Amino acid sequence: MIDKILNIYSRQVLDSRGNPTIYTLVKTSSGNTGFSYVPSGASTGSKEALELRDNDPKYFNGKSVLSAVKNVTDEIGPNLIGMNVNNLDEIDSKMLDIDGTEYKSRLGANSILSISMACTRASAASNNIELFELIRKLYDSELNNYKLPNPMFNVLNGGSHAFNSTDFQEYMIVPVGIENFEESISAGFQIYNKLKKLLERKNYPTTLGDEGGFAPPGLTNEEPLELLTKAVSQTEFKLGSDIKFALDVAASEFYDNSVDMYDLKSESKKISSSELAFLYENLVQKYPIYSIEDGLSEDDWSGWQNLTKSIGKNIQLVGDDLYVTQKKFLRRGIDENAGNSILIKLNQVGTVSETIENIKLAQNNNFETIISHRSGETEDTFIADLAVGTSSTQIKTGAPARGERVNKYNRLLIIHDIIKNKYKYSPKNNTVGTYK
Ligand code: PGA
Ligand code: ZN
Repeated sequence: MIDKILNIYSRQVLDSRGNPTIYTLVKTSSGNTGFSYVPSGASTGSKEALELRDNDPKYFNGKSVLSAVKNVTDEIGPNLIGMNVNNLDEIDSKMLDIDGTEYKSRLGANSILSISMACTRASAASNNIELFELIRKLYDSELNNYKLPNPMFNVLNGGSHAFNSTDFQEYMIVPVGIENFEESISAGFQIYNKLKKLLERKNYPTTLGDEGGFAPPGLTNEEPLELLTKAVSQTEFKLGSDIKFALDVAASEFYDNSVDMYDLKSESKKISSSELAFLYENLVQKYPIYSIEDGLSEDDWSGWQNLTKSIGKNIQLVGDDLYVTQKKFLRRGIDENAGNSILIKLNQVGTVSETIENIKLAQNNNFETIISHRSGETEDTFIADLAVGTSSTQIKTGAPARGERVNKYNRLLIIHDIIKNKYKYSPKNNTVGTYK
């Protein structure tokens, strides 16, 4: 079915940190529309597609995105008018051609992605189907069985997402053993609230980090795991079966290239790649951790290979900064046995088509795919639909707090009902946690 792009509107708006980002609206000839808001990271991988900012200190401390907006309205947009919104592959490749660079550095991945996401939504509207159903068509039109992802609740925030905190960036609780999605949300809520009480009793502040987790100052990297163990024990849920832990260490952030060491500031020591790997080996013995993301730096490929060899059979080792959702790095990870799972962030690569292609490449090689938010988020809930549409086993979208995190969980709750009514679907994706 042909539904032509009639008009593309875009403007600068704000994300959850108050930083400027792009909003785009695509209108089609049959009167359908699709919008998008683009998120933004803080602990970004160095090889991510380029996020174009104006760097003019007079506006938003250099963070304004007016040139990226102009690229949408004045350069990319006019080239797409008249194209069929239902042919996303063609639209995305056209944008790659217009940009002409490997990392979308001329026009900006933020401009390109905003159009790609908005067109995907407009196409869903044009077909009168839900966004996750449209994504499923793009991903695998034969597959008709939907499952919801496991929510990874980031309840303690450190690293570059909080001030004066742990070196490790994220401590997550994951209801791997709970089949019902709504009960999973309820478990996240209950543990989160027990944790809050625990912190209050210890006189820690309970102000929130960027992703909605608590960010108590002055903790060692292990103490959050003790706190979480205690919080879970005060609920009806069983640690190790209902609930497991996951970490996003974001180790590139504290890797000191000049001495090839990891600088654990909260513990005032620098350790080598193999010492850090040994630390993880001990942590996974002591706590029910089933997943470690960016345990080593994006430059430490041999360290990744060693870690994968030592604990990769039992532990999900997720590359975020390592693969930056890009085929080239994912391919290397697969070929060299460096990691066994991938974090998926749309704006690391910059189009919906490439994102879906990379999800398929990962899954075809038995990598788990984890769909992720960014620390700078918006009201856009696209990633909830992306997770369901691509049968991803997990979604990482923060604590059960802060509007820009909760909206993704809310969208999943609604998708849950749609699926149940329409496809006679049953449980949540529970293949994680009993990893490989
Ligand atoms: P970022 O953090 O959005 O700041 O990059 C999220 C993550 O590292 O997973
Ligand atoms: Zn990460």
